[in-house]
Amino acid sequence: MKRAHLKPLLRHVTFRQLQIFAAVVRNGSYTRAAEELYLAQPTISIQMKKLADVVGLPLFEQNGRDIRATDAGQDLLAACQELFLIFDDLDTRIADRKGIRRGRLRLGVVTTAKYIAPELLAAFGARYPGIEFSMNVNNRDEIITRLRNNQDDLYVMGQIPDNDVDVEAFPFADNPLTIMVNRGHPLARTPSPVPLAAIAEAPFLIREFGSGTRHAYLNLFAEKGLKPNIVMELGSNEAIKHAIVSGLGVSILSIHCLALEGTSGPIQILHAEGLPILRKWYLVYPRGRRLSLTAQKFLEFSATQQDFIARRLIDLWPDLSRYL
Ligand code: PGA
Repeated sequence: MKRAHLKPLLRHVTFRQLQIFAAVVRNGSYTRAAEELYLAQPTISIQMKKLADVVGLPLFEQNGRDIRATDAGQDLLAACQELFLIFDDLDTRIADRKGIRRGRLRLGVVTTAKYIAPELLAAFGARYPGIEFSMNVNNRDEIITRLRNNQDDLYVMGQIPDNDVDVEAFPFADNPLTIMVNRGHPLARTPSPVPLAAIAEAPFLIREFGSGTRHAYLNLFAEKGLKPNIVMELGSNEAIKHAIVSGLGVSILSIHCLALEGTSGPIQILHAEGLPILRKWYLVYPRGRRLSLTAQKFLEFSATQQDFIARRLIDLWPDLSRYL
């Protein structure tokens, strides 16, 4: 194709301008985009002006103190996202040609999976040295947003996303949730199994909206026609554990949350009706996404760790062997 036949965008727009444009939309501001990209703000302004001139329409409009993409800007953003994905894929293919030794693995993991993912990465890294890892830890809602935006290679979550996101999902480990109380709590003296109604009456510490753990136990209570007596909402498992120890209430948590301190500390696991909720950990990625060689190997490796992880859980709470 002769240069003269190229349409204006192909002829004049640079890849760097598109990266800057996407950063401005993501940040809603030239200043924050400049910070993210380590560029001076005038550079951003000049490049965005050039881009708007080529497009021939305004790309941004004011949105309160921030700016947002106009309709033309939204079209451009959609094209940028496709383009970045194509280049991301190309990156992967090139890395694959170089072999797994030089690979990179980006994991997005729901908060509770932070107790298990680093160990898996460490074991995988020992087998394949030279791989670079990154792990973004967030609650379920945020991780699903990252999955929609294709920000990581694989995602670890306790529940496969609903129909609105089409994914491939592979279970690779158990994730039992159960009731945890302070050793001095009256429920600790209730004969086993503790009725779920008694748990619903006790002051209950709930995880934040968007948490998969919260979703699972609210479903259990609702199935039994019960409503927990919520006294406090907390944004992390660690905060909930501290609140239990401080005597603020009881909660239902993944047994993985006790991985470091074990079950002989101030937090006690009880046998209770309907518990543990037997969940699984899944490795998930958008259907149709081409996995890198490194990500494929990690999937295969994780599948071999199921028994090891189950044994670790049973070591933590031997009674779990009745349920797994
Ligand atoms: P959470 O998710 O850490 O957001 O509660 C855990 C899960 O989905 O099991």
